[in-house]
Amino acid sequence: MDKVIIFDTTLRDGEQAAGASLNPQEKLEIAKQLEKLGVDVIEAGFPASSPGDFEAVRLIAQEVKHPVICPLASATPEAVDKAWEAVKGADHPRIHIFLSASDIHLSYQLKKSREEILQLSKEMVTRAKGYVNDVEFSPMDASRTEPAYIYQILEAVIDAGATTVNIPDTVGYAAPQEFGNLIQGILSNVPNIHKAIVSVHCHNDLGLAVANSLEAIQKGARQVECTINGIGERAGNASLEEIVMALKTRQDFFNLATNIDTTQIYRTSRLVSELTGFSIQPNKAIIGANAFRHQSGIHQDGVLKKAITYEIMDPRTVGIPSSVLVLSKLSGTHGFKERLAELGYSLSQEALNHAFQGFKELADKKKEITDRDIESLIAEELRTTTEIYHLDYVEISCGDHSLPTATVRLIDPEGQSLADAALGTGPVDAIYKAINRIVGIPNNLTEFTVKSVTEGIDAIGEVLVRIESEDVTYTGRGASTDIIVASAKAYMNALNRLLARKTPKEGEAS
Ligand code: KIV
Ligand code: ZN
Repeated sequence: MDKVIIFDTTLRDGEQAAGASLNPQEKLEIAKQLEKLGVDVIEAGFPASSPGDFEAVRLIAQEVKHPVICPLASATPEAVDKAWEAVKGADHPRIHIFLSASDIHLSYQLKKSREEILQLSKEMVTRAKGYVNDVEFSPMDASRTEPAYIYQILEAVIDAGATTVNIPDTVGYAAPQEFGNLIQGILSNVPNIHKAIVSVHCHNDLGLAVANSLEAIQKGARQVECTINGIGERAGNASLEEIVMALKTRQDFFNLATNIDTTQIYRTSRLVSELTGFSIQPNKAIIGANAFRHQSGIHQDGVLKKAITYEIMDPRTVGIPSSVLVLSKLSGTHGFKERLAELGYSLSQEALNHAFQGFKELADKKKEITDRDIESLIAEELRTTTEIYHLDYVEISCGDHSLPTATVRLIDPEGQSLADAALGTGPVDAIYKAINRIVGIPNNLTEFTVKSVTEGIDAIGEVLVRIESEDVTYTGRGASTDIIVASAKAYMNALNRLLARKTPKEGEAS
């Protein structure tokens, strides 16, 4: 059966979603999970855009060995060189170059002629080809470009050595049939198209990204660019899990396969949601909390008699834990470790010991520990591995007749303990003010939400905060059975991300 190449751009286009910034360590964590998921290509970042992106691509190229690792580059010699510098340690490197092609972009943004764009495209592909054989080229805004001009560009870049040509619906404007016709036109009008893989990259502005991608695949595209949970610029990109599960569930119709291990979908989706701070809407196809829940009595009756009556997919095929297996304070490291493995986590011994300690503390407060509690514990563990300041102690005093007062102690990067106290309008305000007195980084809190991880009065509370500094949004999350502590952790998590971005590490590009 013919295969479709899955090109994951969660770490590049996905991270372009406003408020989704990830640090290099978090990107590496996601890249390792993408490798387990079985994606063929990981677009790991845009090295010329920031030192953090450069470092992330370099790290991933060094440590993630099975998939092709691909940095993005704009069409300048510096960006192409930087992309190569970042990816050269990969076992399977690729460089992806993009340049606008539509008259709208040429006349209003780039102020260049079609001839100039054609020339530059060839030159940059040739430059990248000097470094690596695997080169991808994208004529940006292709769906709003005259097809005859797209054919011309594609022929030229394939002649220059491009091995993949990607057709982006950059602004999510195309309709499925129209986009399919564009792909068909390319396959029949570009004379050397057999020398390259045709790829598609669809945005979701009209909610058509997955439909457009599937139509293009039907017409002969054999690489699809997508993101976990569909995150991405504006309304996002085509969602990986929806495309993959459509191809798998309707193999009778598409007659195509992928290399994805679908049982890793749920775990990957949770990880991306945790680290980006983007919650998944309950009705999200494939991985939303309601995707496999049946509410109507008639549906429940049917499913109990035979699941196929109302279920087109088995939730286990996407890795949704089949049982909400409960651990308790009597469970030992072995049971805990086993459950982690079943949920798809593999932690270092040190992280495992630390997480087990957290589990024991939680089990003292909460009778039954569910899979969601374990996920929350591990997410907390991942967050603390990338800390600059560590929250060591927090205490508050509040009530309807007292002045909310907080005392906090942080451990700074040199291991020094720093304590301060503040009054606030409420306990969270007091804590954030006390933390600000120590860290001293001006920022605005733009979002604060609390939700409980499971049902029950003893549930873990998860807090999500977003802060803004110099027009950049940073997301932070924290979890604890005490929502005041969770609020402090979430704020520290956001501040640590802000600090990490401001202080490039040794060896990072500038
Ligand atoms: O949407 C787009 O056009 C892109 C390109 C860089 C491929 O993301
Ligand atoms: Zn895009």
